[in-house]
Amino acid sequence: MRLGFVLSSLVTVLVIAYVIFSLYIPQQDLGGVEILGEELLLPLPRKITVVTVEEAILLRKSIREWRDAPITVEQLSMILWASQGVVEDVDGWLRRAAPSAGATYPLEVYVVIGEGGVSLGDGSYIEAGVYKYDYVRHSLKLIKRGDLRNDLWRATLRQDWVREAPVSLVICAVYERTTWRYGERGVRYVHIEVGHVGQNIYLMSTALGLGTVAIGAFHDDEVARIVDARRDERPLYVFPVGVPLRPHKTDFRELQELYSRLRR
Ligand SMILES: Cc1cc2nc3c(=O)[nH]c(=O)nc-3n(C[C@H](O)[C@H](O)[C@H](O)COP(=O)(O)O)c2cc1C
Repeated sequence: MRLGFVLSSLVTVLVIAYVIFSLYIPQQDLGGVEILGEELLLPLPRKITVVTVEEAILLRKSIREWRDAPITVEQLSMILWASQGVVEDVDGWLRRAAPSAGATYPLEVYVVIGEGGVSLGDGSYIEAGVYKYDYVRHSLKLIKRGDLRNDLWRATLRQDWVREAPVSLVICAVYERTTWRYGERGVRYVHIEVGHVGQNIYLMSTALGLGTVAIGAFHDDEVARIVDARRDERPLYVFPVGVPLRPHKTDFRELQELYSRLRR
């Protein structure tokens, strides 16, 4: 009886001490990331590159060979923001990084993250899996766990740059969001919009010193199954992203020389 009382008091004291201690130990630095259950709040977008728009356009190139290295969570955050992130609150209506016909915003972004694909800056990595980008919260919501790059490689007609990239973005369209307003012409608008988003992904990746390539060749149903897309979401584009094996180098002097040759 007495021993029971002592033991339960001891456990209570230990629990209280643990709670107090955990309140005072410094938070692990996860590269500005906060993890709330199955949601990962991404570091907020900020001015991070020193590359001008004209330099990013000049340097943009489809990259298909990667170094065996992860990208950082901050780089992923910036690429997702450039794809569909919020840029302005206009009386409660959120304008996004890429234009959209009638601001109907038909696109959804999934991210397929490989094992060790995205570093958190403290030696740890985002858990491999499929995530969906929440543009309002600038966060990733876990859809399913596991490294699905092999499946995505098969679904994209075995293009090796998909299997070997640490991360791939999958852009899906909900056509009805645009066609209910514009009818059949809305289909055209959705396809134009995914091009805008794709270019933002290319330019932001380039400015960050990363590489990407637009992938249009894949089995739609298989890609949809891999990311657990909702029935009304159709995959349109896949963008593997990684650290280029050979960084692309050129400058405006080289370009001017090229033009003078072309004008001869
Ligand atoms: C709609 C579209 C679909 C594409 N699909 C693929 C693809 O499935 N696989 C691939 O390796 N590249 C793909 N590309 C990339 C093109 O091959 C590439 O943009 C082109 O060769 C020009 O090279 P650059 O992007 O380096 O300027 C695609 C590009 C576009 C615009």
